[in-house]
Amino acid sequence: MFRIVINKIMPSATFHFPTGFLWGTSTSAYQVEGNNSNTNWNQWEDIPGKIFENQKSGKACDWWAGRWKEDMDRANATHQNAHRLSIEWSRIQPEINRWDESSLDHYREILQGLRDRGISPIITLHHFTEPMWLSEIGGWENDDIILFFDHYVAKVVEGLKEYCNYWIPINEPNVLAHQAYIEANFPPGKRSLKSAFKALSNMVKAHICAYSTIHRIQPLSRVGTAINYRAFWPENKYNPLDQFMTKTLHQQYNDAYINALRMGKLNFAFKKEKFTKTGSTFDFLGLNYYSGDEVKFNLLKPKDFFHQRTFPKLTEISENGFIANIPSGLENAIHWATKYNRPIIITENGIEDSKDQLRPQYIIEHIHKIWRAANLSVPIKGYFHWTLADNFEWERGWSQRFGLWKLDVVDQTRIKTKSADLFSQICKTNSLSSETINRFCPQIYSKIFPE
Ligand code: BGC
Repeated sequence: MFRIVINKIMPSATFHFPTGFLWGTSTSAYQVEGNNSNTNWNQWEDIPGKIFENQKSGKACDWWAGRWKEDMDRANATHQNAHRLSIEWSRIQPEINRWDESSLDHYREILQGLRDRGISPIITLHHFTEPMWLSEIGGWENDDIILFFDHYVAKVVEGLKEYCNYWIPINEPNVLAHQAYIEANFPPGKRSLKSAFKALSNMVKAHICAYSTIHRIQPLSRVGTAINYRAFWPENKYNPLDQFMTKTLHQQYNDAYINALRMGKLNFAFKKEKFTKTGSTFDFLGLNYYSGDEVKFNLLKPKDFFHQRTFPKLTEISENGFIANIPSGLENAIHWATKYNRPIIITENGIEDSKDQLRPQYIIEHIHKIWRAANLSVPIKGYFHWTLADNFEWERGWSQRFGLWKLDVVDQTRIKTKSADLFSQICKTNSLSSETINRFCPQIYSKIFPE
């Protein structure tokens, strides 16, 4: 008996990225350094019930004690040419009237270490945490923070300018305003639209000041933002109320901060404010994209401003239900970002997945969308995966694992995942090839190359 086997020829291709594309991972000081005992988050961790199972950041990834070296060796060995990290304000200015020069030296050592490994830094100056002395006098609700932040920024940029020229003054002001002043799961844990507005307004002003301070100290610097973009779609696209709710959420969450920087008008939490802004306020737009939601108008949800959000049906959902794999949302984010006419950097993108099951697919599908945009001449300059090794995930503690390396928090050992090898292959070749897709995630081959 004869059996005829028809060998289908699999299409093959290599998606090349522009020369000089930045490939790396993103981290934040509090989440990796360990023993940051002088911040508002440390205080917050001590309040029972604030963090998942009352877990502690503790040593985190033990970077401050020196493990940044081995992690940067990992980044280097896996062909990453860039890294986004943040500076812990409370280490630089532990008291209102005291600068700690030894901490600046320590950061210089880290940055020199990056340089020795061929890794270019992007520095975030505020990633969710601030010194305790500052939160005690009102944090982002106190107008004085603008000047305090400006002094801190000047101190750091003066001290580190030799090593870095990409700066992000404040990470995800939209997330900080929501979590700290509306959802109440970040310190100071308020539920007040008035406070949320005040905090966001001060972040706009602090950013604008920092922008000109950084440029004064380092004229050729590039100063950008890192916005958390959330994709929203109406649950029923023919329902005007769902459409209205979707637009409102998009405006409040995605647009408000960046529009204030661009046009000098903040429209947020049912309040408006105008700013005097002179000239440009950002040189690149950092996009942190994770996921998106379908939005439904719901009269029974007054506390949620009459809406409810759910992940689109049939999407793959992460381990703890925190993230849905929706690469088309990144496409929306990039499309949205192009209207600001600045280079775009994907400053965060990743998924919590302790078993590294969905992550390879998530990485491939998102990077494929970035390639498509870059190929259509969208000026995308880099991609930073969140994150290198599992880290302390804020109010979710250690329950969510975003690392390319799995971390044992107790003995500090790291285990490389399949995603780390996949990402390494992409970084090494500055491309995503059909061969790589077939090797790491054959099940999505036909999705990327439909017949
Ligand atoms: C934040 C990170 C955080 C990540 C994953 C982002 O919004 O900038 O600090 O760890 O989300 O939860």
